[in-house]
Amino acid sequence: MTNKKISLPRGTYDLFNEDMQLRKDVVSTLMDLAETFGFYEIQTPVFESTDLFVRAVGEQTDVISKEIYTFEDKKGRSLSLRPEITAPVVRSFIENKMHINPMTKLSYYGPSFRYERPQAGRFRQFNQFGIECFAPRNPFIDVEIISLAMSIFKVFDIEEHVELKINSLGNQESRNAYIAKVKKYFAPHKEQLCEDCQKRIDSNPLRILDCKIDNEKSLFNDAPKLYDALDSSSKKYFDQVLLELNKLNVKYKIEDKLVRGLDYYNDTIFEIVFHDKKAQNAILGGGRYDSLVEGLGGEATNAFGFALGIERFINLLVDKVVDKEDYKITTDIYIMPLCESALSKSFEFGLALRQEGLKCSVPYEIKTIKNYFKNAERLNAVIAIIIGDEEMVSGKAKLKNLITGEQSEVQFEDVIVEILKGSNHE
Ligand code: HAM
Repeated sequence: MTNKKISLPRGTYDLFNEDMQLRKDVVSTLMDLAETFGFYEIQTPVFESTDLFVRAVGEQTDVISKEIYTFEDKKGRSLSLRPEITAPVVRSFIENKMHINPMTKLSYYGPSFRYERPQAGRFRQFNQFGIECFAPRNPFIDVEIISLAMSIFKVFDIEEHVELKINSLGNQESRNAYIAKVKKYFAPHKEQLCEDCQKRIDSNPLRILDCKIDNEKSLFNDAPKLYDALDSSSKKYFDQVLLELNKLNVKYKIEDKLVRGLDYYNDTIFEIVFHDKKAQNAILGGGRYDSLVEGLGGEATNAFGFALGIERFINLLVDKVVDKEDYKITTDIYIMPLCESALSKSFEFGLALRQEGLKCSVPYEIKTIKNYFKNAERLNAVIAIIIGDEEMVSGKAKLKNLITGEQSEVQFEDVIVEILKGSNHE
């Protein structure tokens, strides 16, 4: 056996200390916010049948053709780590016959996996918070969910740093008509496109529109506009969504090159981005997907949802509004036994304090006082209880307030009451 160190896989990270505390706080705020809109949490497995993603997301998308982590289990079944969570939620919606309810509103948080080139804000294992709403097609759903997405940024006070981009793919016929137009437009200029887009002309022409490499080329200025390809009912639907957003005073920008990277969308699609060209700037994305439930074998059910990339969102929070110092791990009491005979007294205090709901650290073996203070500082402890030989004889512990430096001697039987008095004052 070799004793060479093993590092974590590329594109992944460990989460601990203040980063972990901040994550927990952010996720619980997001879940609570979703509940105020009537969305309740669902958890699905991190791996599913590969077919689910191929059929839902689309074989020609980057996510499926390049990024999905696929493996065979011991029985030779093809499974994949989920690259996104909409398809698993739809699978669960169908399997659990949720269509019998007039409306199903689900929220989720958890890891997704994509084999992408890691860079700032782009990971191979990342986390999404998202919501999915299964209910009959209605522009008010699109509007309410987009306003829920925007209220995330409001609640965290970073609304001014992001922008809502919106577009419509129209219904299936409009989308097909548009794809034909895009193909016709780009075919004579094939050699001007990047290597990927040359292939996309046949496999996935829509994606040419939002290619990060080609996008800036002048050829794109005259590319057909999605809105012009929408039929009258698709236009009417989109116009109503925009009208209601205006009424709610939700600011947006119509982005006619926005097409989204997953195949299941129709009509309204949207993204929330921040204005930092260097990093990955899409923080949240979603839209309407009216054919996916039926396409995966369920009863025809319309749906709308979005997912937020937690890492990108927290990066933005830390950059603009959050001080990580506020999320340092803390403990209320650090007990410092200085001799073997003080150990069991320390455990006794520890148990009693925890029963009162206080966070309390008790060492398992005797260390020097210097060592204890260092550790208490690392844990941001507020009060130290010091018990050495002298204290064991006198039956009095030393209580030290680690913030003010104040110190007092307290009879063993009064220690808990004394600490509780102090913690009530704070
Ligand atoms: P998506 O746009 O592929 O949509 O991903 C949503 C968000 O996940 C992105 O805006 C981004 O913040 C984050 N994200 C994606 N890839 C990475 C990565 N490699 N590293 C870090 N963050 C990443 C979906 O996944 C759809 N399922 C959204 C949806 C829900 N549509 C309808 N319902």
